[in-house]
Amino acid sequence: MSTDCCTDRKGVTLWFTGLPCSGKSAIADRVADILKGKGYYAERLDGDIVRQDLTRDLGFSKKDRDENIRRVTFVAKLLTRNGVIVLTSFISPYKEMREHARNQIGSFLEVYVKCPVEVCAQRDVKGMYQKAMRGEIKEFTGVSDPYEEPERAELVIESDKETLEQSVGRVMAKLGELGFVK
Ligand code: ADX
Repeated sequence: MSTDCCTDRKGVTLWFTGLPCSGKSAIADRVADILKGKGYYAERLDGDIVRQDLTRDLGFSKKDRDENIRRVTFVAKLLTRNGVIVLTSFISPYKEMREHARNQIGSFLEVYVKCPVEVCAQRDVKGMYQKAMRGEIKEFTGVSDPYEEPERAELVIESDKETLEQSVGRVMAKLGELGFVK
């Protein structure tokens, strides 16, 4: 049997979900870089980027958020079944659509990046919480729009209690434990 890391590629989608500024993208970016460095096929699907192209016609009503996740699920499904490790980072606030993604994709790990809204609002990397609190952005998750917490995530990362490197290490360990990486 070959010891090459990549002769037997097992695809999986790591579905990062959490509030804005919870740390989803930072963790997913770092894991993707590590995986690529090891020779795995890894692809990122990030809300801010996907919304500039594939879902540029969509806003933030429940209907539009559901459509956003529906389209992304379709892409993640195709990549996953071709042996890619897909790392998605979308708020994906609704349980029903996360279950849809899980059911469609099959090889699926939900990663809940858990962080108190007060801490996310302090980080406020794009100044959006401030604007949302002033009422300048409507339907903002955590302020004026709901977030349904995952109940059966394969991994829960408390990003206010651990460093980025610790979180990244836990994701890599989970991938190793489940046989997606050697
Ligand atoms: S989702 O709800 O449909 O999953 P998604 O992750 O794609 O959301 O997009 C979230 C990003 O859109 C945030 O990181 C933020 O930059 C931007 N954004 C703009 N308006 C809103 C809003 N009303 N609620 C949440 N995020 C918003």
